[in-house]
Amino acid sequence: MKTIALEIEKALGTITKEQIFSQAKAAQEANVLLENGQGKGNDFLGWLHLPSSINELIINDIQQTADSLRSKCEVVVVIGIGGSYLGAKAVIDAISGTFDTKKPVVVYAGHNIGEDYLHELSEFLAGKLFGIINISKSGTTTEPALAFRILKKQLEEAIGKVEAKSRIVAITDEKRGALRTLSDKEGYKTFVIPDNVGGRFSVLTPVGLLPIAVAGIDIKQLVAGAVSMEKAIGTTVDFEHNPAAIYAVVRNLLYQKGKKIEILANFNPKLHYVAEWWKQLYGESEGKEHKGIFPASVDFTTDLHSMGQWIQEGERSIFETVISVAHPKYTVEVPHDTEDLDGLNYLAGKRVDYVNKMAELGTQMAHVAGGVPNIKIELPELNEYYLGQLLYFFERACGISAYLLDVNPFDQPGVEAYKKNMFKLLDKPGY
Ligand code: PA5
Repeated sequence: MKTIALEIEKALGTITKEQIFSQAKAAQEANVLLENGQGKGNDFLGWLHLPSSINELIINDIQQTADSLRSKCEVVVVIGIGGSYLGAKAVIDAISGTFDTKKPVVVYAGHNIGEDYLHELSEFLAGKLFGIINISKSGTTTEPALAFRILKKQLEEAIGKVEAKSRIVAITDEKRGALRTLSDKEGYKTFVIPDNVGGRFSVLTPVGLLPIAVAGIDIKQLVAGAVSMEKAIGTTVDFEHNPAAIYAVVRNLLYQKGKKIEILANFNPKLHYVAEWWKQLYGESEGKEHKGIFPASVDFTTDLHSMGQWIQEGERSIFETVISVAHPKYTVEVPHDTEDLDGLNYLAGKRVDYVNKMAELGTQMAHVAGGVPNIKIELPELNEYYLGQLLYFFERACGISAYLLDVNPFDQPGVEAYKKNMFKLLDKPGY
């Protein structure tokens, strides 16, 4: 099996190979800190060996639960916010057919407080056989709790409490939190989010795996890809062969050179939510103590017609990391047209992906020439295996990068500020 590949040559105008290698020891030490559990936030390192430690029993339990929901439901609503839904959505969107209407359809709730969104969702679900996967590690997050209360009522009113119970699954803490109390009282099927795995690192726990399996995606292949990456970027691997360590070093050096914003770009619209997941992973892990690269994202070529101008000629405080997929799944050729009124015959017989790849190369050349350092991560194909590799690659690189920046990658004290104000404004007891 191949692996995803990291290319950093197009970042070398701004930083040098010598500078990168001068950080080899620090990056290796950061990787070892993760492994030894002696760094900041070491209570939350459960994700580090998740891929290789997921046992067959858990995978089978997840698959059986998914199969049961798949057999009973036309629609499954995944309720969760932040790390409790982004990983699942990233994988589901990347692997599923864009216009797929295969049952069950997976939809999302609890990731906003939109009244119209909830109303429209309720209307969409009315008269349909639906189930709910309710995900909250703390079990007390307002957005998912609110959505669950509304959808639980709708489900119970539609099919009765007993039948509803067989279509609700909760994923939460083993002992604590309102969702745990509620699930135990109602007798829902539950899965546990390990104590030592934070939300944004939880895609390879039932948090991600159950919704992904419900969407009909091969979770064993996803995990297999992550296992292979766990081996490829561990502490026994030299710096020069460790893409996660190199990526972490390069982005930190660019940051020191004033490149304060990293734009994750893709040339495949299916990767839009991989970027959303990545933004949470890096933003929430590194943005603290008034430090940290701002993670942004664009979908190309779509956004070349909107953000492209800014990237080419705006403030030179950015670098780009492009996720490139070497081979698409399908083949579509540009047809020949006798009249050629649209002037496209010069492309006749060429694959659409060839046009896309030339757009990718042309964009890279233009942006690099315009002062935007470029990092490329290439996936041989967009499938479960390589996506598993990519997810684990980004997680481990994030841990190393945050340690290089000297922040705790595993806490998120900043997200409490808005909650305190909101609860006070809402007259929540105790605030
Ligand atoms: O990464 C994190 O820890 C957060 O983004 C959480 O996943 C998010 O706030 C949701 O929290 P919870 O799962 O407790 O509802």
